[in-house]
Amino acid sequence: MATKLQTRKTEAQATNREKMMEMFQNSPIPADELMVNLQLYTRSSVLAKMMYIKELYELILETPGVIMEFGTWWGSNLALFENFRAIHEPYNYSRRIYGFDTFEGYANLSDKDGTDALAFEGNYATASGYKAYLEQMLDLHENENVMGNMKKTFLIEGDVTKTSKQFFKDNPETIVSLAYFDMQVYAPTKAALEAIKPHLTKGSVIAMDEINCPEFPGETQAFQEVFGTANVRLKRSKYLPDRAYFIVE
Ligand SMILES: C[S@@+](CC[C@H](N)C(=O)[O-])C[C@H]1O[C@@H](n2cnc3c(N)ncnc32)[C@H](O)[C@@H]1O
Repeated sequence: MATKLQTRKTEAQATNREKMMEMFQNSPIPADELMVNLQLYTRSSVLAKMMYIKELYELILETPGVIMEFGTWWGSNLALFENFRAIHEPYNYSRRIYGFDTFEGYANLSDKDGTDALAFEGNYATASGYKAYLEQMLDLHENENVMGNMKKTFLIEGDVTKTSKQFFKDNPETIVSLAYFDMQVYAPTKAALEAIKPHLTKGSVIAMDEINCPEFPGETQAFQEVFGTANVRLKRSKYLPDRAYFIVE
C-alpha cells in the first residue's frame, strides 16, 4: 500500500507537483546526466530539508561520536549524512552513521499517538527487500568518498522499542553526537531517547521532527518525559518552520 504522507499542499500545488512528477518520469535527460541534474526536479521544500540536515551536521563537527537516525524510511537522510561527512570531515572514519527502522512502517502505536488518519501501524512501510537495496546504495556512496575502505553506515532493522536498548548493550562504548528522531510515535521515541541519554556529551545534538505537532502528539510527550522541554533550549531550524533541536549543555 502506498504511504500516506503528511502534507500541507494546496490543490493548485498538488496539480503543479503532479505535472512536475510527470515531467520527471518522462524526462528527456539521459540517465547518467539526470543523476547530476536532479536539482531540476527538486522543489524548494525538499531542498530546505537537505539544508536542515546540513545545518545539523555543521553543529557536531567538533563533537566526537556517531550519528543516529531513528526512522529512516527510504534512507535519503542517511545518504545526506554520509555525504556531508565526506564534505565536512572526509578523514573522520569514526563518524559512523546508524539508521534504525522496522522497514515495515509504524510499529508500537499507543493511545498517546492520537487519532490522525496517517497514524496507523504499517504506514511508511518500504518495499519488500528494501533494507538490502539501501545497504548497497549507502555502500556505493561510501566507496565514492574518502575513507571508503572503512564501513561507516549501518542499518538496524526492527522495532526501536527493542533495538535501541539492545544496540547500546552490544556497543557500550558508543558516544552519540547527533540523534535525529523521526519515527513520529510515542513508544519507540521514548525508548530511544532513554537509550541514548547516557551516551550523550556536552555538544551532542538531539533533533526532533515532530515536536509541538498536533497530528503526532506522541513524539513531544516522549520528549517531555525523558528530557523535559523546560530543561533544554529548543531551537527552531533556520530552514524549516516546524523542526527543532537542542544542544546538550
Ligand atoms: C516519517 S518516516 C521517516 C522519514 C525519514 N526520516 C525521512 O526524512 O525521509 C517514519 C519512519 O519511522 C519508522 N518507524 C515507526 N515506528 C517504528 C518503530 N517502532 N521502530 C522502528 N521504526 C519505526 C517507520 O517505519 C518509518 O520509516
